[in-house]
Amino acid sequence: MGKYKLRQFAELDTFSNVVHHLQTAKDVPDHPNKGKWSEVFYNNDHDIILELGCGKGEYTLALARCFPEANFMGVDFKGNRLWRGAKTALEEKYNNVGFLRTKIQNIDTVFDKNEVSEIWITFPDPMLGDRREKHRLTSPGFLSRYKNILKSGGKMHLKTDSRELYDYSYEVINEQAVVHAATSNLYKESNGYMGNNHDLLISVQTYYEQKYLAAGKPICYLQWTFE
Ligand SMILES: C[S@@+](CC[C@H](N)C(=O)[O-])C[C@H]1O[C@@H](n2cnc3c(N)ncnc32)[C@H](O)[C@@H]1O
Repeated sequence: MGKYKLRQFAELDTFSNVVHHLQTAKDVPDHPNKGKWSEVFYNNDHDIILELGCGKGEYTLALARCFPEANFMGVDFKGNRLWRGAKTALEEKYNNVGFLRTKIQNIDTVFDKNEVSEIWITFPDPMLGDRREKHRLTSPGFLSRYKNILKSGGKMHLKTDSRELYDYSYEVINEQAVVHAATSNLYKESNGYMGNNHDLLISVQTYYEQKYLAAGKPICYLQWTFE
């Protein structure tokens, strides 16, 4: 590991807004804050909104700016990516933002039933090919974990540049949830698409999204609830 990355990791350990839950055991223990994140970590009783596979946390930060009355948590296992978002959140003094270093596979050891109000999945690795299906963040195993921690009616959002992942996700989600919005070309939709949410969907662009847009790739979007 290079010196810069080593410095980032050392600094990450000192950040008050970063939580580590990187267990490798087969039976991962519950995080001590499970069921009481708002009260213990954010010191309020506001809703919790997650960004899964957040990378540098652009969505987490942008949403936190737009909605100061909610709590946000960016989730990723790569410490050097989380470092960027966490450092910005500390520098800009956001008290409604946290970052969680964990595998998304363990998300229900961190959050309790009904503890989360909304989940964004932003540009996940598409994990194409049959043998990688179980690693896809919209495969049935992951969906059941999300359903478990989401409040009734809690919204799920997926943004992806992968048409294959979008088609796969639409099919799987449509079998077990209610799809509220689905487009294979978000930026071609008229301004009224998703009403007030339209700006939120196109004005917040993650690091990967900017790269895909610059390469001329259409961006797909799905929104659903589990009931
Ligand atoms: C293609 S990047 C997208 C990052 C960011 N959302 C963006 O749009 O710029 C996918 C991210 O998901 C993270 N990731 C992939 N699988 C994961 C898993 N099972 N648990 C936690 N993070 C994961 C990777 O570390 C990476 O940062």
